[in-house]
Amino acid sequence: MINILLMLHVVAVVIWVGGMLFAHMQLRPIAASQLEPPERLRLWVGVFGRFFPWVWGSIITILVTGFWIINIYGGFKVLGMHINVMMVIGFLMMLIFFHVFFAPYRRLKQAVAAEDWPAAGAKLAQIRTLIGINMTLGVLTIAIRYII
Ligand code: HEM
Repeated sequence: MINILLMLHVVAVVIWVGGMLFAHMQLRPIAASQLEPPERLRLWVGVFGRFFPWVWGSIITILVTGFWIINIYGGFKVLGMHINVMMVIGFLMMLIFFHVFFAPYRRLKQAVAAEDWPAAGAKLAQIRTLIGINMTLGVLTIAIRYII
């Protein structure tokens, strides 16, 4: 059972962190250099619209499997330092994602629908910063699991 939970936990992490890395490091610079604001901003609304449901699924999977594994290990009293650190950074990543989803992403969609490109560009810039932070935290969290 524990192997299945760990596998699901890591697959969810790969989907979330890998998706952020691809969006931030590969798609973003090419979209910025090759597309004009209307196409670029519409592209990002489409990309986020497809990526964010996977992030919600990943978060639910990470939480369910993470706490299930902790329960199998014997609860919070016996947890290793690496799990505590992972949990704290994981919660921070989730809060950042919830903020992105309910604030700048919602306003980005509204601004694109209204063809207000300067406002949409400002919201996309906020999302870019926050996803950059979350991507870094995600890679750090994976590294910490194997280093602490
Ligand atoms: C926020 C809630 C989270 C909880 C409660 C949680 C809990 C756990 C637990 C209990 C383990 C097993 C540790 C062990 O066997 O030593 C684990 C493994 C792991 N977690 Fe998390 N985790 C969370 C979030 C995250 C996040 C956000 C990431 C990465 C971005 C992550 C990456 C990993 C990795 C890479 C492993 C190693 C799996 C393995 O060794 O096979 N976790 N997690």
